Amino acid sequence: MSLKSRTIIVTGGGSGIGAATARHLASLGASVAIVDVADASSVVDEISSSGGVAEFFRADVSSSVQVEEMVDAVAARFGRVDGAFNNAGVEQCNLPLHELTSAQWDRAIRIDLTGVFNCLKYEAIAMLKTGGGAIVNTASGLSKVAIPNAAEYVAAKHGVVGLTLAAAADYGRRGIRVNAVLPGVVNTPMIMRVSRDPEFVEHVDAIRDRHLLGRFAEPVEIAEAVSWLLSDQAAFVTGATLAVDGGFLAN
Ligand SMILES: NC(=O)c1ccc[n+]([C@@H]2O[C@H](COP(=O)([O-])OP(=O)(O)OC[C@H]3O[C@@H](n4cnc5c(N)ncnc54)[C@H](O)[C@@H]3O)[C@@H](O)[C@H]2O)c1
Repeated sequence: MSLKSRTIIVTGGGSGIGAATARHLASLGASVAIVDVADASSVVDEISSSGGVAEFFRADVSSSVQVEEMVDAVAARFGRVDGAFNNAGVEQCNLPLHELTSAQWDRAIRIDLTGVFNCLKYEAIAMLKTGGGAIVNTASGLSKVAIPNAAEYVAAKHGVVGLTLAAAADYGRRGIRVNAVLPGVVNTPMIMRVSRDPEFVEHVDAIRDRHLLGRFAEPVEIAEAVSWLLSDQAAFVTGATLAVDGGFLAN
């Protein structure tokens, strides 16, 4: 599998699943635009020092203006946008629905759902100019089922699946494939943060038990699936919601 001479945007590329995917895409020959609201230069340095091509573009995906500027800047730097992994996101607040504030609800929807819409919109505009591309959105096992104390996250991630299907329908005949990965629990800084909350810890054994493989994932295991979906090997795959979840949704 080669992604040589492809330019691929990775949002949330500074940490966890995004950083692992950026490294993996670069190892397959892609030029990677690492997008994050926080500094991601260490991931860029790591890729560059192992001979890959990567550049950092700072943007908050919840801002339509910043996403438009970021996609324009990537296209100007690399000449085109061939692929995108819309992955930036924030975790749930670990509260039952009736204790969520409007601000907590709005934040999850703004970043985890509107962020994906903003990226899809401007990536599609760029890709339509050059004849097409491939996009993968990060949804979640919680795009299909719920756990306690995660209403805002569950709602946003269900929306990401809806957006993925809608975008696949809009662009299927115009050369853009759009798919989603649905990770189970992945060992990343996000999960380390969530795990500090007693409300999550109370349910963690039950959540692990739902993974038929009996363990959580490593970020590179998600990166492998994303890279395949972005490659020509997945040329007939669009509108798919690919569970990469150790059997979480099968249980
Ligand atoms: N870790 C898991 O168990 C798990 C499971 C299913 C889905 N996911 C999803 O995978 C994605 C990545 O999660 P992770 O576990 O790697 O988390 P992480 O916290 O390790 O990384 C998320 C990255 O996104 C960036 N980010 C956050 N808000 C942003 C914004 N507004 N604009 C741009 N960048 C922003 C952060 O700075 C960080 O670098 C998220 O969408 C998450 O919901 C994670």
